[in-house]
Amino acid sequence: MTTTLSSSTDNIDAAVEQRRNFAIISHPDAGKTTLTEKLLLYGGAIHEAGSVKARRAQRHAVSDWMELEQQRGISITSTVLQFTYSDYRINLLDTPGHQDFSEDTYRTLAAADNAVMLEDAAKGLEPQTRKLFEVCKMRGLPIFTFFNKLDRPGQEPLALLDEIEKELELFTYAVNWPIGMGDRFKGVFDRRKKQVHLFERSAHGSKAAAETILEWGDPRIEELIDDDEIYGQFLEELEMLDELGPELDLELVHAGEMTPVFFGSAMTNFGVELFLESFLDFALKPGPRESTVGMVPPTREEFSGFVFKLQANMDPRHRDRVAFVRVCSGRFEKDMVVNHARSGKNVRLSHPQKLFGQGRESLDAAYPGDVIGLNNPGVFAIGDTIYQGKKLEYEGIPFFSPELFAYLKNPNPSKFKQFRKGVTELREEGAVQIMYSADESKRDPILAAVGQLQFEVVQFRLKNEYNVDTMLDILPYSVARWVTGGWDALNDAGRLFNTVTVKDSYGRPVLLFRNEWNCQQVEGEHPKLALSKTAPVV
Ligand code: G4P
Repeated sequence: MTTTLSSSTDNIDAAVEQRRNFAIISHPDAGKTTLTEKLLLYGGAIHEAGSVKARRAQRHAVSDWMELEQQRGISITSTVLQFTYSDYRINLLDTPGHQDFSEDTYRTLAAADNAVMLEDAAKGLEPQTRKLFEVCKMRGLPIFTFFNKLDRPGQEPLALLDEIEKELELFTYAVNWPIGMGDRFKGVFDRRKKQVHLFERSAHGSKAAAETILEWGDPRIEELIDDDEIYGQFLEELEMLDELGPELDLELVHAGEMTPVFFGSAMTNFGVELFLESFLDFALKPGPRESTVGMVPPTREEFSGFVFKLQANMDPRHRDRVAFVRVCSGRFEKDMVVNHARSGKNVRLSHPQKLFGQGRESLDAAYPGDVIGLNNPGVFAIGDTIYQGKKLEYEGIPFFSPELFAYLKNPNPSKFKQFRKGVTELREEGAVQIMYSADESKRDPILAAVGQLQFEVVQFRLKNEYNVDTMLDILPYSVARWVTGGWDALNDAGRLFNTVTVKDSYGRPVLLFRNEWNCQQVEGEHPKLALSKTAPVV
């Protein structure tokens, strides 16, 4: 992969036109690694299928920090993969899978312009996909749906669309439509180009399928499909879609209200290129972003960006931290001096890194839609804006509603200072949210996380970096809501049942509930009490 940009792109407008940036949201096992790998193959970013997985397996030697990943065989870090396809430069922001599910996964979506919702056609919508979808919806991201594993028996395609329409309240537009499924999977019909892509199973199952493309109306289609029942059903479904389904409306797609839908089989590489081509035609290019000085267009001449993730201690000898910055406007250049909005200080951006999987290459320039890794000598926090020119600040990244809570206890009083320092630093870094009981007599911090892994990371790092052993005392809550009107609103509401009040790290009231039902009960009984799933941005 090259790091220098050709002179033709050495211009911000052209660079923005070329860029498409997206994240894949899915539940574990839907095939995200497989799809990512196939996409990278098209972009020539890797040359062999299997390398993404291999990279995952290999990369333990990097640091102690990685020890946890290695022990668990998981990936903690969201990575950014850049590849080219035809004239496009594509940034794929990787969101980690489920055991490693944490707030990072949510935050990564703050840096994405588009989302690809990958579903296993046999399973339909799964819990993690729903959660991530909520964040995409909050951000109004365009969502593209890819139903995977068509080479295996799955649910009826119409039922899959129906589920999305009813449960996610999105219009669907099938860009391609499957012909059969499982053992009788024959291929897909591309409704844009009116072509049939035939799926050819190899002698060894479906691992190495080839593809024949025929124009609609070609008499060989029926003959090659060679299954009257499947062909008949396909024609009926197609007719129904054409007559009853909505037209593709790109405005709705860009507003996150209609999802273009694709069917395929990532493992056999079937339907992947078809998807990629349509995706690139339909996806949003890097656009303007809300800031304290109004919408900032990506073509603003001066550089600006924001930190959406911090990765700490990838190399423990240096206690380094990498701040992941999404470039929002202008051109980033190595060694440039920028303003750090929160502190008002100047910062030189030396040693920038281009991120590819775990490998880090040095980088000379980057444009809107790109992500850069900056060594962060304790300067940056999640949500920070850096800019040149007139002062501006992008909207911060909200705290997301945690679902797991535990008191964090330090059984050794002589370690109190390290404990407090560690907890404060990990909180600042965004590794976990910290809350405190509203009851002043309970002074242990409450860890509040969206994924179990965050607890493990905090305990592991307190031990490794601050030399403090800790214990967890799990709390029986799974739902948190910020009280929008603060303490006054809470006091006005009077007595609340089946909830406890805690304070977030800014001292704002948060209600914890055992379950959604209890939460709805309180909302029902106190209609004036406004509750929010995300914390107001500070
Ligand atoms: P993830 O990153 O979303 O967790 O999923 P991953 O790509 O690792 O895929 C999960 C499993 O699903 C893998 O099988 C993978 O081969 C399989 N898979 C992915 N796409 C398809 C597809 O289009 N068709 C079929 N039939 N299977 C698919 P595994 O047995 O867990 O791993 P492996 O031994 O195949 O590597």
